[in-house]
Amino acid sequence: MRLGVLVSGSGSNLQAMLDRVASGSLAAEIALVVSNKPDALGLERARTAGIPTACVRHADFPERETFDRELVRVLLDAGVEWVALAGFMRILTPAFLTPFAGRVVNIHPALLPACPGIHAQAQQADHGVRLAGCTVHFVDEEMDHGPIIIQAAVPAFAGDDEATLSARILDLEHRIYPQALQWIAQGRVRLSGRQVIVDGAGRDFSGPFWTNPPLEPPFDH
Ligand code: GRF
Repeated sequence: MRLGVLVSGSGSNLQAMLDRVASGSLAAEIALVVSNKPDALGLERARTAGIPTACVRHADFPERETFDRELVRVLLDAGVEWVALAGFMRILTPAFLTPFAGRVVNIHPALLPACPGIHAQAQQADHGVRLAGCTVHFVDEEMDHGPIIIQAAVPAFAGDDEATLSARILDLEHRIYPQALQWIAQGRVRLSGRQVIVDGAGRDFSGPFWTNPPLEPPFDH
């Protein structure tokens, strides 16, 4: 699988992918890393790993569509088949999504459909959720909306703020994103309407259900 990764910032999810590719657990070739921001740390991470990079500045394009078409051009030039958004802070239009239809995925730091949009971790902390988390999903034309491939839940505690919750969620992001990509690379991911089927995926959890706070006897079974 020739993968293109789009970043705008730190690129820690990109780093997780690079590490998994290097260790052999993600069967992908990261063919190109693209940023809309020239100073994105993600570009530096790619260069350090010897991965080709490109910068397409959105400010240089008067319309979203022309920006998107340039993104498509650089990705196709690099032979990219699948696109992973990893902290890419631009909304993509059909000019991008049509050429890559069904082959664009994103990670969002919340249990979608709760808390879409920006500052998702702060939204969760402010709301006082008990279970926060992250979601890898297919990208469609609505923000943080496409079919869900995998989600991970983390506990949220009284006293959590955006920073503490972000760190706890990010640790899980770095696990579930490479896992989702590996399932795709293995050809195990299919769509059935809005539902995503991962062929051969297990259903084992450590208990019948997982709650936070933990249930106490006799409520625990
Ligand atoms: C992550 O929290 C991701 O879920 C969100 O943007 C952040 C990107 O972090 N879409 P990084 O650039 O991968 O470190």
